[in-house]
Amino acid sequence: MPQEKESDEVIIVALDVDTRQEALELVDLLKGRVSFFKIGMQLYNSQGPAIVSQVKEKGVKVFLDLKFHDIPNTVGAASAVAVRMGADMFNLHASGGEAMLRKAVESAQEEALRLNRSEKPLIIGVTVLTSMNQAALEQLGINRPLEQQVKSLAELCQGAGLDGVVASPKEIKIIRESCGKDFVIVTPGVRPLWASRDDQERVNTPGEAAALGASYLVIGRPITAAADPGEALDKILAEIE
Ligand code: C5P
Repeated sequence: MPQEKESDEVIIVALDVDTRQEALELVDLLKGRVSFFKIGMQLYNSQGPAIVSQVKEKGVKVFLDLKFHDIPNTVGAASAVAVRMGADMFNLHASGGEAMLRKAVESAQEEALRLNRSEKPLIIGVTVLTSMNQAALEQLGINRPLEQQVKSLAELCQGAGLDGVVASPKEIKIIRESCGKDFVIVTPGVRPLWASRDDQERVNTPGEAAALGASYLVIGRPITAAADPGEALDKILAEIE
């Protein structure tokens, strides 16, 4: 890991469930061993913004994974709301373009200042979804190699003032070389050898992703869909160490 971190600060557990009860039970079961939980569209759309404060009341951090992608004014306003909700990290699609990315950073900074918060949340750009491969990019008319697309989007994010990016473990090296050791790299697409790949295409094991220099590993189904999520998390933590 490039940044020195406590072991409970490496994994972000994706709370991809429908109900508040399931989400809060997972937080109660795993907190202490993990301090960061991700609320994405499934849980947010089903439970509404209150779920963010309900998870935060458990004393853990929240990554609000709503992947904003809209005109700068709208994304700026949504970013200010994310700050008000108390997100510790939120994200937006890098492909929304530089003006949109800059507006998100500016609005989040202004809102944090207005609320007298010492710092704004970490703002992270999504490069290329880990469920996509080269053929899927080509269908969108993007013909350069996937790694090059990820690298340019990471550079765009850094230039616009974002704190980091979401990318597959396979792209950590190229991003670190180009954006430096302090740039935050959040990697989904993490699969222990004993877990199913599900719909993820570009995967690495947790040990590999950590060794490659990921800042955070986002892990969902290998933990949340396991018969014993606590045991699955322990196995993954042991593998990383
Ligand atoms: O269950 P799994 O470990 O595949 O969950 C990965 C999580 O990371 C999901 O919540 C998914 O929405 C999210 N994610 C992703 N790829 C990205 C960005 C986010 O898989 N590029």
